[in-house]
Amino acid sequence: MVLKWEEVEVGEPKEGEIRVRNKAIGVNFIDVYFRKGVYATDVPFTPGREAVGVVTAVGPGLTGREVGDIVAYAGNPMGSYSEEQILPASVVVPVPPLIDHKVAASIMLKGMTAHMLLRRSLRFVEHGHTILVHAAAGGVGSLLCQWANALGATVIGTVSTEEKAAQAAEDGCHHVIIYTKEDFVARVNEITSGKGAPAVYDSVGKDTFQGSLSCLMFRGLMVSFGRPDPIPLSDLAPKSLFLTRPTMMHYLQTGDELLAAAGEVFANVASRLLRVHVNHVYPLSDASRAHADLEERKTFGSIVLIPDS
Ligand SMILES: NC(=O)c1ccc[n+]([C@@H]2O[C@H](COP(=O)([O-])OP(=O)(O)OC[C@H]3O[C@@H](n4cnc5c(N)ncnc54)[C@H](OP(=O)(O)O)[C@@H]3O)[C@@H](O)[C@H]2O)c1
Repeated sequence: MVLKWEEVEVGEPKEGEIRVRNKAIGVNFIDVYFRKGVYATDVPFTPGREAVGVVTAVGPGLTGREVGDIVAYAGNPMGSYSEEQILPASVVVPVPPLIDHKVAASIMLKGMTAHMLLRRSLRFVEHGHTILVHAAAGGVGSLLCQWANALGATVIGTVSTEEKAAQAAEDGCHHVIIYTKEDFVARVNEITSGKGAPAVYDSVGKDTFQGSLSCLMFRGLMVSFGRPDPIPLSDLAPKSLFLTRPTMMHYLQTGDELLAAAGEVFANVASRLLRVHVNHVYPLSDASRAHADLEERKTFGSIVLIPDS
């Protein structure tokens, strides 16, 4: 499927909805999966699941949101690759005034994913844990490494290039493995003195999955949050491993969960615990170039689209 720039009617918000004029739009790998049909949806569709914008209209009887509010959202519904969109008022959160729009559009989906992975999935990362993070210089990976470091973990990151290795080191990776030059399983084994890591965060899937299992210690936790192939449960047996495949939206089921996760992410950005690398900014009409660069692994840190008007 190809991305095509088109005029569409946005319409007026109905009950419980708002209309938002987007100021900055986050690009995520899941957008590529939808465009390529890896995840199914009706076509044609407007991609995108993360944006920051100004409220331009509120639905009848709606309270709590006003025209002029700056809000952000991540997750459902799809459609953020647009100048304006209609959203359920329940999915947006207010953006703190001191947070730049491009930064906010880079941390809603990626930051709340890092929050889920480190603070809510199955077990929490704690001081003294050694964790392995694949794609450590990516959008999620960069935030994950910084946050895990701040929680006291020893962070091992894998990346493909020297340039990405420099960012991963800057983001608090204690050990950076350039997997195109070194065998990451052997290196993790060496770093952990043969014991293995208590947890692996694997956003890649097929290419890294079995290697990731090999990097875990007895009773270790495999957090697979990309596109893993099916595996037999018996693969977990040799080390009594735990396995979870979490999805951010399942951890944001209530308004309270959304506000808590977004609040923690915004607070960590404000305190500089998380430094957001908005390394790639494209006009919205050039979204296809952003996808090509993301797919070709040219990007590191966050990618943001800016509406042309
Ligand atoms: N489960 C959830 O709720 C959830 C939420 C958000 C994101 N995710 C997943 O997390 C992953 C990262 O998302 P992101 O938006 O932050 O992307 P990203 O990490 O910025 O970009 C992908 C990176 O993955 C690495 N990579 C490894 N194999 C690849 C391949 N075959 N093709 C392209 N890249 C490959 C590349 O880094 P190197 O060059 O260093 O290898 C690339 O830069 C995606 O799989 C996404 O679907 C899941």
